[in-house]
Amino acid sequence: MESIKVKINETLDVRSGLLVVPVCKEGGYPAEIKPFMKGLEKDQFEGKAGQTYATSTFGKASFGRLFVYGLGSKEDCVLDSFRKAAAAGVRYAVSNRIGSVSVSAFPCMGFGADDVAQAVTEGILLSAHKFTAFKTEKQDIFRIKSALVISSEKSSRKAFEKGKILSLSQIYSREIDENPGNVMTPEKIAEYAKKLAKKNNLKCTVFDERKLREMKMNGILAVGAGSCNKPRLVTLEYNRGKNLPFYAVVGKGITFDAGGISLKPSKKMDEMKYDKTGAVVSMGVIKAVSELSLPIRLIAVLPLAENLPASTAQRPGDIIKIRNGKTVEVLNTDAEGRLVLADALSYVSEMKPDVVLDVATLTGAVIVALGKQAIGLMSDDDELAGTIEECGVHTHERVWRLPLWKEYSEMMKGTFADLKNISETREAGTVTAAAFLKEFVGEKIRWAHLDIAGVMDSDGSHPYYEKGATATGVRLITETFERLSKKKG
Ligand code: BES
Ligand code: ZN
Ligand code: ZN
Repeated sequence: MESIKVKINETLDVRSGLLVVPVCKEGGYPAEIKPFMKGLEKDQFEGKAGQTYATSTFGKASFGRLFVYGLGSKEDCVLDSFRKAAAAGVRYAVSNRIGSVSVSAFPCMGFGADDVAQAVTEGILLSAHKFTAFKTEKQDIFRIKSALVISSEKSSRKAFEKGKILSLSQIYSREIDENPGNVMTPEKIAEYAKKLAKKNNLKCTVFDERKLREMKMNGILAVGAGSCNKPRLVTLEYNRGKNLPFYAVVGKGITFDAGGISLKPSKKMDEMKYDKTGAVVSMGVIKAVSELSLPIRLIAVLPLAENLPASTAQRPGDIIKIRNGKTVEVLNTDAEGRLVLADALSYVSEMKPDVVLDVATLTGAVIVALGKQAIGLMSDDDELAGTIEECGVHTHERVWRLPLWKEYSEMMKGTFADLKNISETREAGTVTAAAFLKEFVGEKIRWAHLDIAGVMDSDGSHPYYEKGATATGVRLITETFERLSKKKG
């Protein structure tokens, strides 16, 4: 999309190819669309949740076509309904090759004008995104040229800007994530991080293999040992050294996870290019935080490696020593995310941030538990978990909390070393992984773990994400840092 703007206007009377209007079941229609809604049969459009109706305006309005989207009744309608409405309108425009779209962001259903304007902006941008980097014939791909968000409130301008920054940061992460393992190697991600740092005035540090050895990051080194694409640890810092609330985001960055010597089955193994989602989400978060100029200090820590089988790869039974001195028996080389995160969490803990969030496509078990609907959340800190849950409702990147009782930590004790990287059984796989990570977070540091394995990609049936990487977590984590900083002050 070439441009997206907000227009503060009393009416919906604007020039465009398509006007999109989310409508309530009970409330009447806005005056500008009433003439086109007359005489509809009951089953044609009643305003039920998700119901849509489209018509030409036959030259009788400033907009060429009208698309209405039912928000349903008060019980059906959530803030996300507005994202969905905007996205449905965008999809209609694309399939009918309409180049300019305006979407009504007039408040209704008890939602405020600002929230609605932000949600509509996000719905437009997230649904309009198409990944085409590897298509050679791009001229056949139709794209909307311009979009307009219509709001009646002046204050919505700010909400629109926020929605734009968040969505474009998420799209930035999606674009990187979609690149396959042969293209997006650890070193390549480091280059992207450097570019981002330059553009957004961040400090970027890249630790190569030699440096990782010096720093005793043996988890990252062991996981990366089977690949000729060498591992890296990258840090990005915003407001470095400033006396502000200090937060950290740590993202799992496995550029491809074949499982290593504990090789995965070949079915759907291609999806393991998304095993770097945690790292690219963290990049999106620091991009958004810096563009929103949030009054916080933030460090993003990205442990990057490729997990392949080779004669140089680590093997089941190997014992390694993580940066904080704890030893780990590697019983399954496919439980590699926790090994790279262990080093990264130990390292960031030394800087004593107030809060650490880690984000990772860590376990298949979270998909068994929650499917594609929610992020697994684990934390010992009820207040922090509560804030994340609230932000999940607001951004619709919903989280569901699982327990972290000490019995789960017992399950990760090693026979020949301090810890093992998998437990004896498959029980509670998502929680035992988190219990393992907990061993590497400094005492007194507020910490939460987000398992995003279920939400990392869409199968194409999502209301606003095309098939592929979603970078779910960018809006949730950014919003969480913003709310945490407000609570402090
Ligand atoms: N990257 C995977 C987890 C995953 C699976 C993410 C499916 C997205 C979709 C992770 O490294 C892994 O392989 N975990 C193992 C852990 C097991 C060996 C304890 C798993 O979930 O099977
Ligand atoms: Zn794995
Ligand atoms: Zn993995």
